[in-house]
Amino acid sequence: LSIEREGRGLRIRWPDGLAHSFHPLWLRERSFDPANRDPLTGQRLEEAVFLPLDVSIRSFSGGVETGVELEFSDGHRCAFDASDLRRAVEHPLPDDLVGAKRLWDASLDPLPRHAFDDTAGDSGLLALLDDLARYGLVLVEGLPGELDALKSLTDRIGPIRVTNWGGIADVKSIANAYDLTMTGRALEPHCDNPYRLPGPGYIFLHCIENSAEGGDSLVVDGFHVAERLCAEDPEAFRTLCETPVTFRYEDGDAILEHYGPLIEVHPDGRVHRVRFNNRTDQVVATTIRELDRYYAARRAFADLVWSPEMMLRFRLGAGQGYIVDNYRLLHGRTEVRLATGNRHLRQCYMDRDIVASRQKTLRRATG
Ligand SMILES: [Fe+2]
Repeated sequence: LSIEREGRGLRIRWPDGLAHSFHPLWLRERSFDPANRDPLTGQRLEEAVFLPLDVSIRSFSGGVETGVELEFSDGHRCAFDASDLRRAVEHPLPDDLVGAKRLWDASLDPLPRHAFDDTAGDSGLLALLDDLARYGLVLVEGLPGELDALKSLTDRIGPIRVTNWGGIADVKSIANAYDLTMTGRALEPHCDNPYRLPGPGYIFLHCIENSAEGGDSLVVDGFHVAERLCAEDPEAFRTLCETPVTFRYEDGDAILEHYGPLIEVHPDGRVHRVRFNNRTDQVVATTIRELDRYYAARRAFADLVWSPEMMLRFRLGAGQGYIVDNYRLLHGRTEVRLATGNRHLRQCYMDRDIVASRQKTLRRATG
């Protein structure tokens, strides 16, 4: 580890060549000195906005093993793990679920499956959450045969998101539907409820009965679609990242509206979210030229979504369920022929921070 001054900052170079110049105030406010932070929560005990803007580093020493020890011009002393500083450079923004993503298409085989019984223990539950991070999709087998069986699964992870439609709700193909989900109509691949704020993070689905013809599940890896669009038609990709689209739902009791681009990219360049819900979207009325570009780009995205090589199809049976990352996957179903039987599913949502926190604390506990 080499440490030297560079301007007002401190340049640190690791043995493998990675180097970064740290701002003195960035280091000062990040101090993990016990006097500076609450030992339990890690929260700052001082209002760092009022630290001197011209704070400088009076002295420094250290190495990979010993860490980096600093004294600042305001007299504060602290030490950093070299690995902590390195992580801040290499991985500046947090992930929701942790772990490398594996993009997939219709050929994904085997599907990531987990037995409900295996999720009773920490290692089984962590394996499920790690697969959810990897694929954005896990199938769950052997759910109890009760109406609210989803609760026994979600209780192992955290509180569910209650909306104006309730907690664990029916997805039943019925007459007098208040949402297209409740009809027998085929559902084109979509993300759920982008008109909500925050948008539902994860969807939990439990199949009670699937005896009707049709009603196969369709899922598409939206991140894979976005990656292909970026490679094959970069201008379309950019257009979908930059064009604001509104999403709206209205019934007798609720008006829900929000907006965002169809592809959302993190400041570090990674695709963070796709929003695709063609039944509720309405692009902002910008210029005719811009909208020409937008509509062509949306079509290019949809062509990839609908291409047979991207769309994974499987059939849920009673006692099976799945969890999907609603910021990454699009889901849908084939038409249900209501005269031939029943299709009854139950579903609920969970916020992203709840799911991610469960995975991260399990990882911390298992080292
Ligand atoms: Fe849906």
